[in-house]
Amino acid sequence: MSRVKKAIIPAAGLGTRFLPATKTVPKEMLTIVDAPIIFYVVEEAVKAGIEDIVLIAGRGKHAIEDFFDTSYELEDRLAKDGKSHLLDRLTKIRSMANIISIRQKQALGLGHAVLSGLPIVGKDPFAVLLGDEITMGFHGEPNVTAQLVNSFNETGTSTIAIMEVAEKDVSKYGIAEVSEQKPGFFKVNALMEKPKPTETKSRWALPGRYVFDSEIMDILKVAKPSLGGEIQLTDSMKVLCDKKGLNAMTFKASRFDAGDKLGYLQANIELGLRNPDLQAGLREYILQVSEKIKNGSFV
Ligand code: G1P
Repeated sequence: MSRVKKAIIPAAGLGTRFLPATKTVPKEMLTIVDAPIIFYVVEEAVKAGIEDIVLIAGRGKHAIEDFFDTSYELEDRLAKDGKSHLLDRLTKIRSMANIISIRQKQALGLGHAVLSGLPIVGKDPFAVLLGDEITMGFHGEPNVTAQLVNSFNETGTSTIAIMEVAEKDVSKYGIAEVSEQKPGFFKVNALMEKPKPTETKSRWALPGRYVFDSEIMDILKVAKPSLGGEIQLTDSMKVLCDKKGLNAMTFKASRFDAGDKLGYLQANIELGLRNPDLQAGLREYILQVSEKIKNGSFV
């Protein structure tokens, strides 16, 4: 059975929720502490053993490509200034993985973005990590993509991550109806893209991490647009599920929708609190603010 060595990261969205910032900066390049969102997503894939990463980018995404490329002038300056710590960090980033960039010429939906990765993925299994979702695993635990890859390697069946959401949030996500096989591991019975809470009893949402066998590409090739006139990945997953089965797993990690303002701020706070240089100061500030909120003196 072939192991999962390739990943597709769709990063072609317009980032309208972050305007005006995203007028000139792609949303995946917005900073969490000191690195862009896309860095954390690529890092998760690399730590899961992925070697080739296909970035599906739209217009104005040169900044993402440049971020993973060599910057001769900057590296030369850092070397001359003896700033080896920063230089090491930059060198590590550009040697993290083979980053292959494919331009999605039209924004036809997530399914279409994933299909754009076909020339690189071919007949191999692959992971999909949505470019604005960040997950932060806990020390010593495999990250979300690694958990999915392990499951795929064991079962040979495509596997997706799921998380429980509140009823009011059901219509924001793809939703899976599942039956539990063992703790944290499920068989998918049905899938819906952004249903009304009245249309399903399930509260299991898709947080944007998937591992597929290559058959999903054959299904995507003939997929028709649906919700919002877009080619929805969830529709093709439904076909894959009926044909070959689909597994789902819960995961141990914090997860943030960094393409959303609140999620973005939360990711900055959580990562800040995990950063040894920042944690003491940030913790103190948060405690001061919480005290003010509690006693009603916060503006
Ligand atoms: C996409 C997917 C959806 C998934 C979500 C995760 O929706 O279509 O199934 O649950 O990402 O964030 P989007 O948020 O791009 O509308």
